Amino acid sequence: MKYTKLGETDLTVSRICMGCMGFGDAGQGQHSWTLDEEHSREIIRHGLEMGVTFYDTAIAYQSGTSEKYVGRALRNFAKRDEVVVATKFLPRTQEEIENGITGQMHIERMINKSQQNLGMDYVDLYIYHMWDWQTPLEDILDGLNRAVRAGKTRYIGISNCYAWQLAKANALAEREGWAKVVSVQGHYNLIFREEEREMVPYCQEEGIALTPYSALAAGRLSRKPGETTERLAKDAYAKFKYDATAQQDRIIIDRVAELADNRSVTMTEISLAWLLTKTASPVVGATKLHHVDGAAKAADLTLTEDEIAYLEAPYVPHPLAGVMAQNKRTNAKDKHVWSTGNQRF
Ligand SMILES: NC(=O)c1ccc[n+]([C@@H]2O[C@H](COP(=O)([O-])OP(=O)(O)OC[C@H]3O[C@@H](n4cnc5c(N)ncnc54)[C@H](OP(=O)(O)O)[C@@H]3O)[C@@H](O)[C@H]2O)c1
Repeated sequence: MKYTKLGETDLTVSRICMGCMGFGDAGQGQHSWTLDEEHSREIIRHGLEMGVTFYDTAIAYQSGTSEKYVGRALRNFAKRDEVVVATKFLPRTQEEIENGITGQMHIERMINKSQQNLGMDYVDLYIYHMWDWQTPLEDILDGLNRAVRAGKTRYIGISNCYAWQLAKANALAEREGWAKVVSVQGHYNLIFREEEREMVPYCQEEGIALTPYSALAAGRLSRKPGETTERLAKDAYAKFKYDATAQQDRIIIDRVAELADNRSVTMTEISLAWLLTKTASPVVGATKLHHVDGAAKAADLTLTEDEIAYLEAPYVPHPLAGVMAQNKRTNAKDKHVWSTGNQRF
């Protein structure tokens, strides 16, 4: 395994981050294919054995049971200061808004709950999971800054946002002397490269770490078309993200398979080695022990410039999919209030 600094922070992370969305009670959330606690623990323990020190979960994953499984496993198998734990919070609910729960109060409630789920008194990276159009950005950043000052999280990150949203957030944080966003978890892989328009160059300019999710397009970049798995069959959300462009993506997946054969490595290694040339630490999901080995090996594979160009050449722009497709103001009720006062940035 190789290691890097997370952007300009003092956190050292493995170049592969273990994505923990696939761990949790399958009866309690968005996904029906998630692993129970026993199998999740085996994968986490194997990740630690392979040198993976960076773990990504969220309160949203299977109603907090992912956080519970991850927290218990890491507490049992690792020393707290030897792992970097990231979790994420959701937007304010309609009920909270109606009950006068502010953005600051919401964040305090969410991080307290995540810490309780994880059984940890701090997280390393607290991530704004998706843009909350109904809560003033100022309140969110103030709430996050309070969490940092209280020692509940060491750093803050963001996920599923446009570069302009991140630029606005960090400009506001800088003006107020608040903690700034140090990392971005966006949807980015060989068959979905929309982050390259604005986000990648912006983050390079600002020293912000890229930790992309769905690095293997939920498995599509790990296996030849036609091969299937339980997850591939059941994961309706991933189908929604990738099915519409499957035909045009096929040529890229075929090239991944071709290079994997040429180099006698797996498709997973080729796909991740490519993403590792662009980003700090891709967030990779695993549902089987050997998946961890594939991801870990990718950190040691170097692609040539010709190979990189060959993989990239067929890409054509894709429409936004998944959470990013919903990142917009939808009606007057959802109107985003950028500042709590009259002051506009
Ligand atoms: N911020 C967000 O909004 C957001 C959204 C989505 C995900 N995430 C994060 O990103 C993580 C990864 O997302 P993801 O699971 O959708 O995407 P992924 O990493 O692109 O795909 C993981 C899937 O790839 C397959 N795979 C992985 N390693 C393999 C190997 N060595 N050989 C063969 N197949 C392999 C497995 O598929 P099978 O199980 O089918 O075998 C696995 O479930 C999540 O766990 C979560 O932490 C964040």
